[in-house]
Amino acid sequence: MDSIDNEKKLAARAAVALIPDGSVVGIGAGSTVNHAVRALGERVAEGLKVKIVPASIETENLARSLGIEITGFEQHPHFDIAIDGADEMDPQLRLLKGGGGALLREKVVATAAKEFIVIADSSKTVEHLGKFPLPVEVLPFALWTVFDRVRKLGVEPILRKKADGSVYETNQHNYILDCPFGKIEDPDKLAADLACIPGLIEHGLFLTEASVALVARGETVETIRRTK
Ligand code: A5P
Repeated sequence: MDSIDNEKKLAARAAVALIPDGSVVGIGAGSTVNHAVRALGERVAEGLKVKIVPASIETENLARSLGIEITGFEQHPHFDIAIDGADEMDPQLRLLKGGGGALLREKVVATAAKEFIVIADSSKTVEHLGKFPLPVEVLPFALWTVFDRVRKLGVEPILRKKADGSVYETNQHNYILDCPFGKIEDPDKLAADLACIPGLIEHGLFLTEASVALVARGETVETIRRTK
């Protein structure tokens, strides 16, 4: 395991250790989250009672394989905790997410929780969001008009493709435009501009959702709480 993967694992295990018995927990997607699901599987095997609302089919499949009980919004429209990774996190706990393509469901899960815990390795912390291309999820019908409108915000979007050259589809069968904005000077304004484009279903800026971050550096996990 390389040092970054070890940090992901440490942050993930620290978050899972906080889950109280009897909880319903929203769980995001990605490689850091997969460590959390494995750690949760261990706790379940030891007797922890927990149900999860998974944000992706991949997370759900991994959890099921480990004997973790799955639930959904019909039974639990709101819950106490959600745990997820991030592609970037700034000092104000504003996040850029969606590298794995699960941003829409991840935002739904994050906003259904009272407390949203971000788990991250040290490479995810940045002074300014935007070095990582910002993913936006697009209704296939609207692809090229959304493409044009996003372009007018000053970026050349890239339609996400799979290794075989076919267009990448999300769990909802939508498309992703990756938008390499570079340093995002005003994340609130960009989020507002993107949110009013019809056919752009969701963007990967999570500016207010995270309440606490567990960031691993080397063998240490730092807890950072949102202050405002
Ligand atoms: C999934 O769509 C993303 O939002 C992930 O949370 C993010 O890409 C972090 O992924 P890793 O944990 O794999 O770095």
